Amino acid sequence: MLPHTFNEPVPLAIIGGTGLYKLDSLKPVAKLTISTPWGHPSSPITISKTSNGMPIAFLARHGPNHDYLPSDVPNQANIAALKSIGVKIIIAFSAVGSLQEHIRPRDFVLPNQIIDRTKGIRESTFFEKGFVAHAGFGNPFDDKINKIISKNCQEVLINDDGHNNNDKHILHSKFIENDGKDLTLICMEGPAFSTSAESKLYRMWGGSIINMSCVPESKLAREAEISYQMICMSTDYDAWREDTEPVTVETVVGNLTANSKNAHILAEKLIEILEPLIKSGEIGNDLTGSMKMSISTGP
Ligand code: ADE
Repeated sequence: MLPHTFNEPVPLAIIGGTGLYKLDSLKPVAKLTISTPWGHPSSPITISKTSNGMPIAFLARHGPNHDYLPSDVPNQANIAALKSIGVKIIIAFSAVGSLQEHIRPRDFVLPNQIIDRTKGIRESTFFEKGFVAHAGFGNPFDDKINKIISKNCQEVLINDDGHNNNDKHILHSKFIENDGKDLTLICMEGPAFSTSAESKLYRMWGGSIINMSCVPESKLAREAEISYQMICMSTDYDAWREDTEPVTVETVVGNLTANSKNAHILAEKLIEILEPLIKSGEIGNDLTGSMKMSISTGP
């Protein structure tokens, strides 16, 4: 049985989405059940250590048995629990639909912008009951981390035949291709997928991909001064394509299962490249103290 306590700060956390429920490459050293003022997180937090000794937290967003709907994920408890163990950087994985032809199912995407289409029913701030704060959210993700992943992880993805060749699944990012244009993630409420008309509207708005998970997770991370980057795996063409059946759960799960190897490969590689940069302080400190300037009232 793993210990239920861990006494070192844990600088990096991975939030696993649909299809990524644990980190295969690392040996767990503790399993924490954390209680926060906002309740319990969606799953116990597993702490693993890299071979160079850096602890990493893993949290399954939808619960260990996928029992939370996107609208019901306890996002405040998730982010508060990670903050309480010292997390400075969150890399969050998520399945997404593609709103662009060139983002094929099973490609990976590093978004740098968000359009929030959730319906206001999710608890999306830590500042309530007399506190008023307005966090800066113009750039919702961590562009520095996006650039580092873009530069170092393009070559690691493999094909369905297990080889790494020219026809491989691609990593998309503003900093790799896209002529410097934004890669915009639409976050919708769900749980039903979009209508075809909505899907076409999101394309007109400049949407690149769509999911149900990045808001308010990313907003709460910003309020907690935690650097946050989402890594998305495209599983379908949503509902905009005339000659393709609109997305079903079967399509999403089929592509996730077929490509979960690439999610693990990517997670392993990025841990390897981020570790020295975290240790040197090059990443993970940009938001420290940022909320001081964002609080407008409060006791
Ligand atoms: N997650 C995976 N595919 C999706 C889609 N098409 N819409 C919303 N969330 C998704």
